[in-house]
Amino acid sequence: MPATTTGYSEALIEHFERPRNAGAMEDADAEAYVTNPVCGDSMRIFLRIEDERVAAASFLTSGCPASIGTSSAATELLIGRSLDEAVALSREDYAEAVGGLPKSKLHCSVLAAAAVREAIEGWRGENARAEAAERAGAAS
Ligand code: FES
Repeated sequence: MPATTTGYSEALIEHFERPRNAGAMEDADAEAYVTNPVCGDSMRIFLRIEDERVAAASFLTSGCPASIGTSSAATELLIGRSLDEAVALSREDYAEAVGGLPKSKLHCSVLAAAAVREAIEGWRGENARAEAAERAGAAS
């Protein structure tokens, strides 16, 4: 896809202007909030998880067009994936999903990658604790 005069791809601009799955999710199973320490932009991601798969994803991102565009594309990439597949997605995968990012904006795709990992790791940690508590309860 040809790059625009801003250096952003048309796909990125399209995601920025018409973000998919934007907004909070009331019944999320997992969520995470991450901030880019360099610029202060932030992303909150919400995931609904069913049978170890991402059944739904949404986001709230406060930041530059690249961070909002990659957040939007991230939700589309995530839905339907197993948790292992979702965790394995890299910032390069998110950047690729918006047709690439200008060099100076490559760091903007870090938000999505970090938020997804944190949300899923947090969910897994909570599940492990709940299962351990259940086992302890059953044993007493
Ligand atoms: S400039 Fe901060 S995430 Fe893009």
